[in-house]
Amino acid sequence: MNKFFRHISIFTLVLIMGCSKKSPAVNIYDSEEYKSLDRKDLIVGESIWSTACFRCHMYGTNGAVLLDDKAYWDKAASKGIDELYKSVWEGKKGENGQMPAKGFCNLCSEDEIRKSIFYIFDLGKRVQASNEKKDLKRES
Ligand code: HEC
Repeated sequence: MNKFFRHISIFTLVLIMGCSKKSPAVNIYDSEEYKSLDRKDLIVGESIWSTACFRCHMYGTNGAVLLDDKAYWDKAASKGIDELYKSVWEGKKGENGQMPAKGFCNLCSEDEIRKSIFYIFDLGKRVQASNEKKDLKRES
């Protein structure tokens, strides 16, 4: 009987540990949400980018990191959408500077901010791909 209870308690412990463990962040580029973005989502994201985010991320204003910095954005992508969403929604003090809450888009909805984040990663991929092509040309 004792043995039975021991088994039960170990089983319960494992169950509790299993439940409290946070699920690991899914890299933006591997996430279902990123892969299933359609034209409409990207247009919403782009409109927020071009009215708010680009002011800093296009020129590096206020310490924002440019989209062609592949290492920075790949590392950011690995944090997953939940953490990145929190960074943008609440604002974030990074090593290089401070991003204001909602990236200054005070009237933006949660959905719009979310889409602007996916858009920034989509645009980043395109900027980085075109830079790689330029580098190849320079080398040859
Ligand atoms: C006033 C300038 C500014 C604006 C506007 C701005 N950002 Fe940022 N952003 C920053 C800075 C500064 C950082 C932190 C850089 C660092 O890591 O040192 C940052 C970081 C980020 C990160 C990485 C966060 C992380 O946790 O690694 C994402 C994603 C991001 N911005 C997306 C956006 C989006 C989307 C918008 C538009 C809704 C936006 N930003 C608008 C300045 C800005």
